[in-house]
Amino acid sequence: MTARRVVITDVGPRDGLQNQQKILSVEQRIELVKAIAAAGVPQIEVGSFVSPKAVPAMASTEQVFSGLRCDGFATPTVALIPNMKGYELARDAGAKTVTMVLYGSEGMAQKNASMSMAETEAVTLDILVLAKEDGIKVIATIAVAFTCPFDGSTAQSTVTQLVAKFLEAGADQVVLADTIGAANPQQVRELCAPLVRRHGAEKLGCHFHDTRAMGLANVYAALESGIRRFDSSIAGLGGCPFAPGASGNVATDDIAMMLQQMGYETGIDLNKLMQASDLAQALTGTAPGGRAKAWLQGHLIKQAS
Ligand code: COA
Ligand code: ZN
Repeated sequence: MTARRVVITDVGPRDGLQNQQKILSVEQRIELVKAIAAAGVPQIEVGSFVSPKAVPAMASTEQVFSGLRCDGFATPTVALIPNMKGYELARDAGAKTVTMVLYGSEGMAQKNASMSMAETEAVTLDILVLAKEDGIKVIATIAVAFTCPFDGSTAQSTVTQLVAKFLEAGADQVVLADTIGAANPQQVRELCAPLVRRHGAEKLGCHFHDTRAMGLANVYAALESGIRRFDSSIAGLGGCPFAPGASGNVATDDIAMMLQQMGYETGIDLNKLMQASDLAQALTGTAPGGRAKAWLQGHLIKQAS
């Protein structure tokens, strides 16, 4: 990974769709994933293996995996898992990369996974051992790495210890998630810069929600701190049903446009990304769509006239 290369993982088909009133069919979910891939997004979180009672929109994720496989889908995919059962289901569905969730607070660990922080850590260590044998990559995402809606501010030391522990244990990446969109750029810099100095940028990523319109500012602060991996969501889809107040992720539309204009390489074709964004909006009826589309369309019209 060069300093100008930024790797985006679109988490819209998971983080975005899990919070929609309208539940998409397996076929619609596959159509959305393919449209995002067609725009050149290098990695896509296509769903989660969680309790269908807890998150009905993510039921049948194994069918999304099998449908994509049948169609010879080549873009790397990721499945989110909350526990060992999720790992087993993801492995059986043919997932090659899983995102296991760790927590910066006890309140969120209990609400989201019905486990203590220590229990999620122990399960993740077990999953890392199995995943090595199974040839599956593991991304450890630290939820509420900045602020928890139940427990308040997350201590920086809690997060830095988790990052060190799980990189040492063999996680392929560790992602810092601002689950409810409570971080500000100063906090992002204070957390990310020392982590990049200590561990390098290769295995670190950030996941921001745009609840308070600070999403892109936080991306920029992380970028300046050396982070080169970001999660974002097509058309800004999303929110978290278990985290009160959270809105969608930073829109892939906006982060891709900003990075391109700043000279970073993302491999993303903005015109095709806008088509995927249109599809996300048409399928859900609620995706906000980011800010890039109106600008890009206006710009293209001006160029043509
Ligand atoms: N996938 C599918 N089903 C699962 C599962 C998984 N990963 N983990 C547990 N289950 C099932 C159990 O088999 C059980 O099924 P049953 O009622 O038919 O017997 C049921 O879910 C409840 O299991 P239990 O262990 O008692 O868990 P719980 O009710 O305390 O729920 C979670 C815990 C983690 C399974 C549930 O809260 C969940 O899936 N949350 C998803 C959180 C999420 O997606 N957050 C967003 C990403 S951060
Ligand atoms: Zn999220």
